[in-house]
Amino acid sequence: MRLLVTGGAGYVGSVVAAQLVEAGHEVTVLDDLSTGHENAVPAGARFVRGCITDPGDALDGVEAVLHFAAKSLVGESVEKPGLYWKHNLGGALALLDAMRQQNVGKIVFSSTAAVYGEPERTPIEESDPTRPTNPYGASKLAVDTVLTTYAGLHGLGAVSLRYFNVAGAYGAFRERHAIETHLIPNVLKVATGERESVSVFGTDYPTPDGTCVRDYIHVADLARAHLLALDAITPGEHKIYNLGNGTGFSVHEMIEVCREITGHEIPSVVGPRRPGDPAVLVASSAKIQRELGWKAERGSMAEIVGDAWGALSGK
Ligand code: UFG
Repeated sequence: MRLLVTGGAGYVGSVVAAQLVEAGHEVTVLDDLSTGHENAVPAGARFVRGCITDPGDALDGVEAVLHFAAKSLVGESVEKPGLYWKHNLGGALALLDAMRQQNVGKIVFSSTAAVYGEPERTPIEESDPTRPTNPYGASKLAVDTVLTTYAGLHGLGAVSLRYFNVAGAYGAFRERHAIETHLIPNVLKVATGERESVSVFGTDYPTPDGTCVRDYIHVADLARAHLLALDAITPGEHKIYNLGNGTGFSVHEMIEVCREITGHEIPSVVGPRRPGDPAVLVASSAKIQRELGWKAERGSMAEIVGDAWGALSGK
């Protein structure tokens, strides 16, 4: 298929673009490089530097769009909510308008676990209440709502994938954020010597060891789900799937895995809670397993951290 990948120079977008090229699709990456890297665009994909609000000829002949381009920092969204509404909701609306004008009727959307907010139960199912606790999650939920509306109104075929904690690397494709807030890359930066220690944000949560529990999913497994989602698009329907491993690991447990993989002692310093962090976020991925046949193939923490470490350290 001829496909447009917005945000294909970013972490998840570049891995999905690489897998799409490997699967024989004709891929155009549209990215403004505000946070992405041009050298993350996989060989074999066409690159257009530009904004989703004005995709221009990047949409010519395209059959489906995979939409990743977005602002994605929870903390930043609390400080600058307008930025998140403008880029995430405004950007998606403009992209959907341009798609309608060019008769592109299929989209796979990069949604997030942040739409659920503080869960009432775990594992979280897609039918559970969506009460985002920050503008990032709220802006992504708004796009999900728009997709449902447009599916009913205009016959759009859409699939939203709600990611839990994406980690690991796919070959040389890895997380390279200018501002790194995520746990695993920050822990590994201690092992490379870029940081002296890692901060543990709170040890007084109602969890077995007092630190937050998250559901870490390998970026290669996550990316594979996008190819399945593409095949599952049905005109007039908006399908929503959670994507995680279904098992939670605490911050302390993840730091321990990083110590084992890197052989570095990785000093940690306990700090206060980070505002907005739910205690436990674990996905039920039963729906995507049942309906699309997706299954995590690289679900062990050793493999996830090992691949992230390999890409970072060149080992
Ligand atoms: N943490 C630390 N120290 C760090 C970084 C993180 O203790 O240096 C903790 C956090 O407090 C949290 C856990 O490690 O308890 C994981 O934090 P991340 O920042 O790696 O990931 P989040 O769970 O905050 O965020 C992820 C996605 C978001 C999504 C969110 C849903 O990255 O896009 O889940 O709540 F919105």
